[in-house]
Amino acid sequence: MRATEPVSHDEQAGVWHVFGSADVERILSDSATFSSEFSSLMPAQEDVDRFIKGNVLRKDPPQHRKLRNLASKAFTPRVVADLADRIDVIADELLDAMAGAPRVDLVADLAYPLPVIVIAQLLGIPPEDRPMFGRWADSLVAPESQTGFIPNAERTRAMAVVMREMNAYCLDHIRRRRAHPTDDLTSKLVAAELDGQRLDDEEIIGFVGLLLLAGHITTTALLSNVILCLDEHPEAAAALRADPAALPGAIEEVLRYRTPLAPSMRRTTRDVRIGEHTVPAGQIVLAWLASANRDERRFAEPDRFDIRRTPNPHLSFGHGIHFCLGAPLARLEVRIAMEKILARWSEISVGDGAEHHDARGIFGARRLPLDV
Ligand code: HEM
Repeated sequence: MRATEPVSHDEQAGVWHVFGSADVERILSDSATFSSEFSSLMPAQEDVDRFIKGNVLRKDPPQHRKLRNLASKAFTPRVVADLADRIDVIADELLDAMAGAPRVDLVADLAYPLPVIVIAQLLGIPPEDRPMFGRWADSLVAPESQTGFIPNAERTRAMAVVMREMNAYCLDHIRRRRAHPTDDLTSKLVAAELDGQRLDDEEIIGFVGLLLLAGHITTTALLSNVILCLDEHPEAAAALRADPAALPGAIEEVLRYRTPLAPSMRRTTRDVRIGEHTVPAGQIVLAWLASANRDERRFAEPDRFDIRRTPNPHLSFGHGIHFCLGAPLARLEVRIAMEKILARWSEISVGDGAEHHDARGIFGARRLPLDV
């Protein structure tokens, strides 16, 4: 598609697809023309509106700036670096539990619980509630790609039911932290102040909710993708065992080669020329990160998996003002997990029965049985 039809209009789904890396980067860089706010296209629902109010991913400037600045004050590189010891302990516990099991599922046993436990601990909520977070994530994220991307009235109602439960859960937690602050991220969000501005309860609900969702599905997908790439490329696994310092570069290459979040979605605010097409105002544009990451104008031999690829300017964490706030955390979690896996398992081999997400949304495994 990138070569033959770099911009294409899918009338049935009501979206424009953009595949080339220069166009994708331009879309993500220009929030005035390519907006991240979609509420005007969705049927109004109080619980959805409430959830979206603090959802930094679905905001344009100037609201985006306020939310992002305050959130960045609480979610600092220091906060992430301090998590390394905790991630280490959690990863060891999960891997210990897998040892000796006749058959392991990398997703259920490690790639899913690790980021959820980390994000739950970071926010100060009980990790045991994680089946609920998984249910929320499944109902809010996965089906988007199957329902034409902008939810219709029926889907908005279904989302509102999930969001009501999620909003109530988060609000309860936020109120407890307002009354009795601890050193968790929720307490930091409650206290964060910039130029005399603070986040109100609803803004914090949206942010906590977004972290709960964004903080695990993508990281789970990335960890499963690392395993899939090493299974497909045993020479890369051998190179990593010989030179563990190459691991951070290998993770970047997996991010490029198997992009966990395939498209980013925007709405045009005016008629705009993209490639050979004029896209009218008010249209949904899907900027395909996964395709941009295989663009030969950006990467030499893009279909080759090369753990030593430098530079590696992939777009897997987005670009511009919405660049992923959790990128350092995701990289840290996956690096620690992989260091342990490479040290513990002499061979990585994917068994039968792998199941994958719908690749038009999340690109990664839902179930990944391993022979270890
Ligand atoms: C934004 C990917 C992990 C929190 C984004 C965006 C991408 C992305 C592509 C931009 C979307 C857009 O512009 O439309 C990923 C991938 C991850 C990952 C591939 C794992 C491999 C995380 C984690 C967290 C997180 C672990 C938090 C704990 C966020 C937030 C935003 C975001 C808050 C919104 C930033 C903004 O709008 O300013 N992520 N993410 N992500 N991500 Fe991540």
